[in-house]
Amino acid sequence: MLDGKKTLFSGMQATGNLTLGNYLGALKNWVGIADEYQTFYSVVDMHSITVRQDPAELRKRARTLLTLYIAAGLDPEKNCIYYQSHVSGHAELAWILNCFTYMGELNRMTQFKDKAAKHADNINAGLFTYPVLMAADILLYQADVVPVGIDQKQHLEITRDIAMRFNSVYGDVFTIPEVYIGKSGAKIMSLQDPLKKMSKSDENPNSSIYLMDDPDTIIRKCKRAVTDSEAVVRYSEEQPGIKNLIDIYCSCLDKTPAETEREFDGKGYGEFKTAVGEAVVSVLKPLQDRFADLTKNKDYLDGVIKTNAEKAAYFSNKTLRKVQKKVGFPERIR
Ligand code: TRP
Repeated sequence: MLDGKKTLFSGMQATGNLTLGNYLGALKNWVGIADEYQTFYSVVDMHSITVRQDPAELRKRARTLLTLYIAAGLDPEKNCIYYQSHVSGHAELAWILNCFTYMGELNRMTQFKDKAAKHADNINAGLFTYPVLMAADILLYQADVVPVGIDQKQHLEITRDIAMRFNSVYGDVFTIPEVYIGKSGAKIMSLQDPLKKMSKSDENPNSSIYLMDDPDTIIRKCKRAVTDSEAVVRYSEEQPGIKNLIDIYCSCLDKTPAETEREFDGKGYGEFKTAVGEAVVSVLKPLQDRFADLTKNKDYLDGVIKTNAEKAAYFSNKTLRKVQKKVGFPERIR
């Protein structure tokens, strides 16, 4: 609890180009709940180096992501938007929590197994303890709620386990966080294979709409989306391509599937797909314009980066000092 509000923490990695899926599934929800909570939104660049990165590229993407948070509508005066690497408490708490986490627990993480298989030549210790750094992110701010996608649920469970274990030894130090499942919780699928999630790492660029795609590209990708031969705009598991397009349409325009079915009753896929493309443009174009404005304003962004890192450091240090004391580190002489 800070200022009588519950605390919310979430983070995103600055790897790959963000897609419409990231926006509708995560960012848009973040904006919708920002007023109800004391919020911390981090660009988790320390997590990114668990796989090899090009340094210049990582730096650029991190800045782009932070700018996108703001362009998407998160007011940096009200939401603490910052780089994880600018707040040293993350690494310091992660070390302590490493000593309260078991190898066996980490071995069970499905994301570790997947990533280890994918990066067999670089199975580093950081990749293994990735969830501990994530636990540190969350516990540092005493977060009550953590909005994440389903793929991160296991990491949230281990965070809770670590926190409870620590509390059972030292008393009530950490708030036990809950997963926050967004209201709309839109899960956007690939335009080329609607049974697969839309992913920033998909090798086929037609599968994903990127947040920076221009209007023509967006419309073209929607028109090329894989559908079926039913020729009816119906929200059904049997028509996963159309269902996904309805989800996108509804999520962009805040409509319901039933309304959409009625709106396109008796109309062809061509017309529907164009409408979906236009709906996406109506959401992404303003975001892109705000992004362009923000990018021009270097001093403003630098100011946000500095003050919010200081704010994050202030809150995280409170927890960190308490934890350091609990585990028996000598007191600082002031
Ligand atoms: N691991 C998360 C992801 O890849 C990102 C992340 C890092 C995160 N730390 C976090 C999400 C803390 C929520 C809370 O999506």
